[in-house]
Amino acid sequence: MQYIIDSADTKAIKRCVEFFPVAGVTTNPTIISREHSSDFKGLISEIRSIIGPDRMLHIQTTSDIAEDIVAEAVELKKIAGGDFYIKVPVSAEGLKAIQVLKGMGIKVTATAIFTQQQAMLAALAGADYVAPYINRLDNIVSDGVHVVEEIVQLFQKHDIPTKVLAASFKNVEQVHKVAMVGCPAVTINPELFDQLIYHPLTLYAVDAFTADWEMVYGDKKVIDLLK
Ligand code: E4P
Repeated sequence: MQYIIDSADTKAIKRCVEFFPVAGVTTNPTIISREHSSDFKGLISEIRSIIGPDRMLHIQTTSDIAEDIVAEAVELKKIAGGDFYIKVPVSAEGLKAIQVLKGMGIKVTATAIFTQQQAMLAALAGADYVAPYINRLDNIVSDGVHVVEEIVQLFQKHDIPTKVLAASFKNVEQVHKVAMVGCPAVTINPELFDQLIYHPLTLYAVDAFTADWEMVYGDKKVIDLLK
């Protein structure tokens, strides 16, 4: 399973890459706007230099006409370098662009997916990933995990190689549940990475180990006893 950072905050990305097994970074226009960067190209290059060439970098188009989406993808790919994916919202123009991009060998993540059939059509158009929005579905009394589960099943049943990249998470439970239904990739904000490993009993256990150890060995560490 792939865990991806849903952020354009370079400090947070640097920290996630240092400590967590991350497969890449996703952004969207809202995420980029939050950085208030006057140098969009510089921001993309900086993210790439932090994550290196082998991790995925997904950047979203802001165009809604197929030809413009393709043109943006071509230019973004040059700046982003490495393992690059253009994120294209699902629409008729988006599907047209995905087919063109596929023919050009540019990798695509179809985004803003809310239904199983949107995912199917994006996959058949040639998307490498489809990104259904879990929390936004849950917010409208739909069931984000169920939508992901059915997309995963559809792709298996129809032998479709496109991967599901579940997005829009607000809590650990949502991430765990999509993992349980076989979702191969999630993109989550940096704070959620920390929540995924947080448990008070873990902190308590480590404190107890430390206290027991120090009662016998003081401030010596394991490495000191091996010398
Ligand atoms: C990522 O690809 C999506 O754009 C993002 O996860 C949406 O998250 P939000 O619903 O928290 O804005």
